[in-house]
Amino acid sequence: MVGQSGFPKYSGANSMADVHKFMDLNPNELNYFITQVGLSAASFGVTTDDVTAVGMALNSLFGFKCSAATTVIPNTPPETQAICQDDSCPLAANANCSAYGKAVAPMSATVSSAGPTSTSNAGPSTSGSSKPSGASVSQITSLFGTLMAAVGFAFMI
Ligand code: HEM
Repeated sequence: MVGQSGFPKYSGANSMADVHKFMDLNPNELNYFITQVGLSAASFGVTTDDVTAVGMALNSLFGFKCSAATTVIPNTPPETQAICQDDSCPLAANANCSAYGKAVAPMSATVSSAGPTSTSNAGPSTSGSSKPSGASVSQITSLFGTLMAAVGFAFMI
């Protein structure tokens, strides 16, 4: 149904590796996320078989470090798709690590009026709160919408 009347075509980024490259996500984080997507789908009536199929598609598409560029969104060029990029992620059977930059761990984006709190390149400042401020409800709702579209594409492959 994606791209048909009432279910607009996905219009977000095509490379999930690029979108998630500053998160340095590991298998626990990715699997937790996929489990939560599955549980929420199950909570509104998606069958266990379908939840399992989508979960496996998400894991095989996005869960393997260095996976070779591939097309997720129909009729778009192949792009890097690995969301799991931490060193502890399983290596893809078709790995092409040179297509990826080095995974970068998240840093605080807090900026004071005097400029960034840290000017060294040794990582984020440890003074003050190092936690980013929370995402707004609208950001989360928007992400959920785009994610559901991604799940829709996962169904098609
Ligand atoms: C199967 C797993 C996942 C899928 C399919 C997925 C999919 C997506 C999609 C479609 C977007 C929006 C792309 C766009 O803006 O065009 C996105 C953005 C984002 N995702 Fe994921 N995601 C997954 C796992 C995760 C995990 C585990 C985290 C963090 C724990 C995460 C954090 C984020 C964040 C913070 C953004 C916004 C990035 C930005 O706007 O700069 N995602 N994701």
